[in-house]
Amino acid sequence: MTVLDVDGLAKTYRSHGADVEAIRDLTFRIDRGELVCVVGPSGAGKTTLLRCLAGLLDPTGGRIRLDGAPVTGPPAGMAVVFQEYGRSLFPWLTVRANVELPLKEKGLSRADRATKVEAALSSVGLSDSADAHPWQLSGGMQQRVAIARAVAYEPSVLLMDEPFAAVDAQTRADLEDLVRALWKQLGITVLFVTHDIDESVYLGQRVLVLSNRPTVVLADVPVDLPAERQQLETRSSARFTALRSQVYALVQQAKKGHRPGTA
Ligand SMILES: Nc1ncnc2c1ncn2[C@@H]1O[C@H](COP(=O)(O)OP(=O)(O)O)[C@@H](O)[C@H]1O
Ligand SMILES: [Mg+2]
Repeated sequence: MTVLDVDGLAKTYRSHGADVEAIRDLTFRIDRGELVCVVGPSGAGKTTLLRCLAGLLDPTGGRIRLDGAPVTGPPAGMAVVFQEYGRSLFPWLTVRANVELPLKEKGLSRADRATKVEAALSSVGLSDSADAHPWQLSGGMQQRVAIARAVAYEPSVLLMDEPFAAVDAQTRADLEDLVRALWKQLGITVLFVTHDIDESVYLGQRVLVLSNRPTVVLADVPVDLPAERQQLETRSSARFTALRSQVYALVQQAKKGHRPGTA
């Protein structure tokens, strides 16, 4: 069952005189409950794609459908975690209040909100920090607050734009496992953008490789690793190594300007 249907998506930024064609023609589908990673060279239009999907940016061509309905503005049922957690949390609100805010906008009762906020903070291991302010927390903890906020909202689709680019390697590994655990537990659909090839293979059930600008889908690589993934074991398996080599080669081709259908 398709939850996200992207058909011929195009986006050209128009500014005084100088147009930037960021996305030429993106077509792909994501089924309900899938965890799909998107990789591509820097500047390939990954963030542009996510902003279009989230209804934050108007495409200049093509169609996006969420559960069959055209996306024309930020859709209910979609949550986004951005790379810059520092800018996505409100510094004057406590951790609890940050997580609670979208639930207020959703119109949930005070009691419902409290239950969901506690559950989300507990799922990211931050129950003890509910009364702290974001600036009192480390980068990794702040990103966990952003994840808790997205999860508490109970989205049907979770979009993540290089969410771990700014945290240290150990925290990053923990957060990757957290995303997989939450995805399994909640049955949500996740689209995870990263420029990290290993991360895309470790996390995804499928990796969409984007060409460089103007962007099209270069390849759609199924990740046939076991569903139970473990940082050391999975990453040292022969299959993981083969997949990462495959995706690495595709991204190298993308950087050299390779397009689908050309040799
Ligand atoms: N607001 C904007 N106005 C004009 N050009 C932009 C804007 N945002 C992004 N771009 C350009 O669009 C292209 C794709 O950017 P982006 O989506 O951020 O790529 P990625 O996330 O893959 O690194 C880049 O060439 C970038 O400079
Ligand atoms: Mg980006």
